[in-house]
Amino acid sequence: MKRRDFLKTSVGFLAALAVAPASFGTGRTKLEGTTYFKYPAKKIGSFNEIRRKGTLSFSYPDNDSPCLAIFVPEAGVVAFSTLCTHKGCPVIYNEQERVFECPCHYSRFDVDKEGQEVLGQATTKLPRIELEVRGNDVYAVGVDGLIWGRASNV
Ligand code: FES
Repeated sequence: MKRRDFLKTSVGFLAALAVAPASFGTGRTKLEGTTYFKYPAKKIGSFNEIRRKGTLSFSYPDNDSPCLAIFVPEAGVVAFSTLCTHKGCPVIYNEQERVFECPCHYSRFDVDKEGQEVLGQATTKLPRIELEVRGNDVYAVGVDGLIWGRASNV
């Protein structure tokens, strides 16, 4: 193989690696350069139930990852991990102010700003759970952000 052909092949191979998402063979996919993970879909409840109650607790992507779905009139249903990104305390949802509050060191996370930390010790937002509404059923399908205590969202 000539040097020029070798370089063309190498550049093409490296370019393909740069744009390909990393797959792990367990149904989850991490988009390169992000903390976004796509997981197998899991039904968490019905849209009408979440709208009627205002919130719904569930776990995703596994039983060690508590989450809360919230009905927001302007946005439909949104959901977040409820483990504080500072040191993992369970955060509490304040419905009146639409923020999560951490009782351990008083961090606050704004639901209307996609879980952005707005006060306290935490330096990263709450992981947002990506949802899909299929008919009246709500499914969790991915996690945007690193769940506290994990080196990756495995
Ligand atoms: S664990 Fe939540 S602010 Fe420290």
